Amino acid sequence: LFCSEALAVSVLQQLNPLAPHKLRALINRYINWALEAPGAGPLNAMRSVYSYPFPVVIELIRNLFLHYPYELFWGWIRPPGLDNAHVPIIERFMKFQEDALPGLSGFRFRYPTAGANEGIREAFTKLKRDGKTQIYILQGEYEGYEEVALAHGIRVIKVDPNQDPAELPAGWWFISNPSARDGNIIPNEFIRKICDAGHHVYYDLAYLGLTDFHAFDLTHPNIDGVFVSLSKSFGIFGIRAGFMFSRERVDGLTGNVWFRSDPALQVADAILHGIRDPQHLTRLYRPFQTAVVADLNRLHGLNLRPSDVVLLAYQKVSDVVGDRQAKVLSRFDRAGVGRLTLTRYFLEMESWKSLVRIAIFLGLISPRWRIILPRAA
Ligand SMILES: Cc1ncc(COP(=O)(O)O)c(C=O)c1O
Repeated sequence: LFCSEALAVSVLQQLNPLAPHKLRALINRYINWALEAPGAGPLNAMRSVYSYPFPVVIELIRNLFLHYPYELFWGWIRPPGLDNAHVPIIERFMKFQEDALPGLSGFRFRYPTAGANEGIREAFTKLKRDGKTQIYILQGEYEGYEEVALAHGIRVIKVDPNQDPAELPAGWWFISNPSARDGNIIPNEFIRKICDAGHHVYYDLAYLGLTDFHAFDLTHPNIDGVFVSLSKSFGIFGIRAGFMFSRERVDGLTGNVWFRSDPALQVADAILHGIRDPQHLTRLYRPFQTAVVADLNRLHGLNLRPSDVVLLAYQKVSDVVGDRQAKVLSRFDRAGVGRLTLTRYFLEMESWKSLVRIAIFLGLISPRWRIILPRAA
């Protein structure tokens, strides 16, 4: 409904002055548009992963800001006090994802951060200060690691996932899991093998909460730090809410106990209170993802599969048949896997179009109105 507000206003504006031929043309246009399959038209998937502003989350934020607890501005003189205001919220997050994150409580240093990015940046600051000159990532990983590494003068080595980590000199890895490479979950054994070979891992959970249940094992002592973000998990990219968990102090984040964004933390808290089940969003949107992937395959001749992450779909480049598929997928290629973000289709499904479809389904509007309306003079 919220998405359709702007559209409804534009429709009303177009209807004035109300000429029958205009009305007819408009109704035709909207009915045709609503009857289109979600994946019709040019391929509207995106290469980058943009979070989806889940309406159920937006509603929680709307309520928070309608009744914003302004007394929190006095938080520095009232318990839990300036230094600790974030603590109950981080603990709420830990409780919320307790089953999915075995070992998280073993990370003694916990910081509120502006998304995962701030934690990643400060992990690099620490590595640089400790004299590290290079890190490892898997081929096709999240581009952000390389950007931040570049800014710190640290070299990035991209590793083939089939390479035996024991053959590489021990070093520091940045791994996103669920993986930014294809939106799928990397098995725990894969990361354990890297740690057992003497490497250290920074574990990025940016897509946590967007898959079916999985326990991401964080117990290995060589997992040095964990990044959590609410940007994608709850579709609140611009709010900049997240946490970093570390076994050692991260000096670059020490000041975050004061220099944090309390409104961002309040949003996080409202979401953790409002969405009580960590699998809720995945369950809600999995059927959307399946429907969109089926339509895209039919309309664009692809062999996409729904990723574990509900916002994404993927296809191995080695599974490509024919030039047409190869051309379409090349735009999305990340080291041999085409990864597509479906966010725009979600938006479309949840918009005015869906309402028209439901109205047609319920018999409130007939697609045949196109025929029975008077012809333009
Ligand atoms: C795997 C991964 N990690 C971290 C980030 C950083 O996002 P944020 O700082 O909003 O959490 C992104 C954003 O695209 C990402 O895909």
